[in-house]
Amino acid sequence: MEITVVGTGYVGLVTGVCFAEVGYNVTCFDIDEQKISTLSTGICPIYEPGLEEMLKKNLDEGRLHFTSDSKAACTKAEFIFIAVGTPEDEDGSANLDYLEAAVADIGANLTKDAVVVIKSTVPVGTNERIGQMLQDIIPGNIHVKVVSNPEFLREGSGILDTFHADRIVIGTDDLEAGREVAQLFEPFGRPIIQTDIRSAELIKYASNAFLATKISFINEVANLCEYTGANIEDVAKGMGMDERIGSQFLKAGIGYGGSCFPKDTKALEKLTEYYNYDFKILRSVIEVNSRQKQQLFLKAKKMLGSLRGKRVAVLGLAFKPHTDDIREAPAIELITQLIEEQADISVYDPAAVGKVEELFGSRLYYADTVDLAIKGADVVFIMTEWPQITQYDLGRYPLLMREPLIFDGRNCYGLVEAELAGITYISIGRKA
Ligand code: UGA
Repeated sequence: MEITVVGTGYVGLVTGVCFAEVGYNVTCFDIDEQKISTLSTGICPIYEPGLEEMLKKNLDEGRLHFTSDSKAACTKAEFIFIAVGTPEDEDGSANLDYLEAAVADIGANLTKDAVVVIKSTVPVGTNERIGQMLQDIIPGNIHVKVVSNPEFLREGSGILDTFHADRIVIGTDDLEAGREVAQLFEPFGRPIIQTDIRSAELIKYASNAFLATKISFINEVANLCEYTGANIEDVAKGMGMDERIGSQFLKAGIGYGGSCFPKDTKALEKLTEYYNYDFKILRSVIEVNSRQKQQLFLKAKKMLGSLRGKRVAVLGLAFKPHTDDIREAPAIELITQLIEEQADISVYDPAAVGKVEELFGSRLYYADTVDLAIKGADVVFIMTEWPQITQYDLGRYPLLMREPLIFDGRNCYGLVEAELAGITYISIGRKA
């Protein structure tokens, strides 16, 4: 079976490598020549646990190929997966420029029948439009079927999520194409749901919006805990033990970030505007999240007044642990505010420092360890629950900091332990 994957971002690369791993012959295509030459040497340009090893293995065994030549990418392909980005446009809608360019490129280079599978997250109706676009470009003797196959993997656990997917969604109005794509996924042995093309598109947005809703909901409950004196960790545990609610995505914190939830909730909101439908919950989820991202900074301001000239350490920069992705990361918003306050800022992250340095340059001190970041600090902000931070010896904060004051946006430590260590510890939804 010959598979081509267009786009070597998180989704495209993980998809390509995993298809090669189950035995298919896979060609990954990207217009970024630099990236393709890096990948061809077995180096993975993104931080994704286990991906580089699997990539190297499949390159060596000859099942995985990389190219930036679209003709070469299309000639043999029986299935063409498109996994290019659909970033947020200025007005919040999904920008389909990369997708349309990829489709035009494929259309111009197809020489035989193929199934085009869209993995990119796209507004309802887009796949049908892509099908039409392809029909208009390709010669009449070539037949192309379009299938929607949204992706549900998480950054940082992409490989695990691919091999243990809760479901594989296949949306098409062409039954035969649906069967062929289902067959392709058989080696993964995961549940498959076949549906029409529009439902598949909406399953993706609705799933991300629902998970974002759980997070915003628990963050609201956490804020209520602070008013009422309840403890969010116990409240979330007690709620999550009800199987109808489920314990996942009930971790209160400093708001969701990343390249997916913020973008997809806004794109879904744009879609509802198009249909003139007021999706009230969705609007609130987005609003609650932007308010939540401010929580720690506001708490610090309330307690300390100005942060001008204060030595501030920010621990954790990525939007979540086990990734170097800082897109929409709460830490970035916080750092911007701290710079405005003219604080003296040091930062630590096990993976994302390089990306933060590209943004803020010499305005920050980049520490290699937690010790170096917090040395002499007046205040610590915890923004990502990396193990290096959650497992850090609490006793070292009072030892190294000028004042042991921590604002923890991820509830990394127990209240009793923090108190015993002599730390003034302010977290989310728990007593100060
Ligand atoms: C998310 C979805 O979980 C994937 O299923 C989906 O495929 C992906 O978006 C996508 O659309 O591509 P991802 O953005 O990688 O995956 O990260 P998550 O692990 O879902 O975390 C998202 C954000 O929510 C993070 O900032 C995390 O800190 C926050 N979060 C998550 C919480 O604040 N509390 C929780 O209980 C869970």
